Amino acid sequence: MTRDFVDSSASIPGPRGGVDGLADIAAAGGLHNYQLRLHAEYGPVVRFALPGAETAVSVADPVLLEATAKIDERPDKLFEFLAPLQESGNLQTIPEEEHTPWRRVLLSVLAGRRSHEAHFGQFVNLACGLADQWAEASSQGPIALQQNLSTLSLRMICEYALGSGTASPEQAEQIVSAFEDVLTEQLARLYHVEMPGTDEERAVRAQQALTYLRAVVDDVLAAHQSGAQQSDSSDLIAALADAGQSPARIRDTVLMTMLAAHHTTGVAISWTLYLLAQHPDAAERVAEELDRVLGDRLAPDYADLKHLTYLTMVLKESMRLYPPGPYGAREATEELHIGDYTITAGTTIFYPIWAVHLNPEYWPSPELFRPERFSAEESAARPRLAYIPFGVGPRSCEGASLATIEAELTLAILLRRFRFELAAEHPVVSIERFVLWAADDIWMNLTARQPVELC
Ligand code: HEM
Repeated sequence: MTRDFVDSSASIPGPRGGVDGLADIAAAGGLHNYQLRLHAEYGPVVRFALPGAETAVSVADPVLLEATAKIDERPDKLFEFLAPLQESGNLQTIPEEEHTPWRRVLLSVLAGRRSHEAHFGQFVNLACGLADQWAEASSQGPIALQQNLSTLSLRMICEYALGSGTASPEQAEQIVSAFEDVLTEQLARLYHVEMPGTDEERAVRAQQALTYLRAVVDDVLAAHQSGAQQSDSSDLIAALADAGQSPARIRDTVLMTMLAAHHTTGVAISWTLYLLAQHPDAAERVAEELDRVLGDRLAPDYADLKHLTYLTMVLKESMRLYPPGPYGAREATEELHIGDYTITAGTTIFYPIWAVHLNPEYWPSPELFRPERFSAEESAARPRLAYIPFGVGPRSCEGASLATIEAELTLAILLRRFRFELAAEHPVVSIERFVLWAADDIWMNLTARQPVELC
C-alpha cells in the first residue's frame, strides 16, 4: 500500500498532484473507476481532490463505513445539477427535518406490500408487452437491451406513480417521451454530450416537457382532492397529499422518483442478462427454477417471487458486480472517527459502492460471478454494509424493494421466454452516466425457449 500524500490534519493516504483531481478522474474513465484504483493503491480509506468538495474521503471497508451510517446530509455542491428540476428545494439535499417525514411517507407506499401487489398485474402486462415485441423483432437482428429495459422501467414507474394519469396508452407514451426529453437534456449538460439542435432550442423543449409533466401530476392530485378517485396506501400522490406535503413537493417527488427509478432498474436487468449470457450454467439453473415454480405459466404471480431463490441470488450478484448507482455521498455533520483517522465536520464522504462490492477482504475472487455468495449462510457471514447497491442509512434508496420486484418479475418473464446470446459485433464497455451504463448498449441475439404464446 502506498502512502505518498499525508495531510497534517488527518493523515489519510491519497494521491499527490492534480489541483482538483478532475484530470485524474477523466484519465481513469470516471469517478467510479478512479475510486476503485485509489482503494487498490492506498487502502480502504482514501483522500482525494474533487471540484465542489474541498476535502473528499472515500471509504471502501464495510466495517469502517458503520461510523458514517447515520449521517442524513448530502453535499449540496455535488447534487446542485438536479436543482433546476425541483420547485420546493432539491430533494437530494433538503435538510434532515424536512427529509425525515418525507422519507417516512415515501417508504409507507414504496416499501409496502400492498402497493407491490396493487401494481404487480400492470407491471406484468408491461413486461409481457416488451417480450411480445422482442419475439417479433428478434428475427430481424440483435436487440438493444439497455435502451428497451430502461424504457420499460420508466413505463412501470409512470404507471406506479401517476396511476390514473397514464390511463390511456397515448398519454402514457406522451409522459414517457416528455420525461426522456427532460432527462436527455439534463444528462447532456452534465456529461457535456453533443446533442442535435441549439442550446436554446433544447432548453425550451426540456422546459416545455417539464411543465407538461408537472401539469399531469397536478391533474392526478386534483382528482384525488375532489374525491373523484379512490385512493389507498398503494397511491403515492394521495399518500403525500394526505401527509400534508405541498403540491410543489408532490410534483418534485414524482419527478425525482421517475429519475431515481428509470435507468437504475433498467440497467440492473440489462447487466443481469449480460452476466447470464456469459454464464450458461447459471442461466440454465434459472430456467430450471422458472420451469419448476411457474409450471406452464409464462409470467409469475406476486406470490411466486419468494420461491425464485436462485434468480434472486443472480440479481444480487449482478448488482454487486455492476451496481447501477456506482457511488453515493454524504457530508460529515460532526467530527467522525473512521478507523485510525479523524474526519472533520464538513468533509465530503464517498460511498464507493463499486469498490466496496469488489473489496477482496469480504468478497474472495471479487471479479468472479458466483451467485452462491448470496446463500443465507454466506450472506450471514459478511458485515452488513459489504453489499450496498441501494446505499446506506437514512438517505438510502426508498425504492429498493419495489425495484427488486420489478427486476425479478421482468427477468422471470424474459428468461422464461428467451435464450440470450451476446451479439459478437457489439463490445460491451461500462461507463458512468449517472448510473453504471453500457456505452454502446448491450446487444443480444434472442431465441425462443418456449413456444411463443402471448402472456
Ligand atoms: C435497481 C434499482 C435501483 C438502484 C440500484 C437504486 C440505487 C440507489 C442509490 C445507490 C441511491 C443513493 C443512496 C444513498 O445515497 O445512500 C438511491 C437513492 C434513491 N432512490 Fe434508488 N435505486 C433503484 C431504484 C429505485 C426506484 C425503483 C425508486 C422509486 C420508485 C428509487 C427511489 C430513490 C430515491 C427517492 C432516492 C433518494 C433517497 C433519499 O435521498 O432519501 N430508486 N437509489
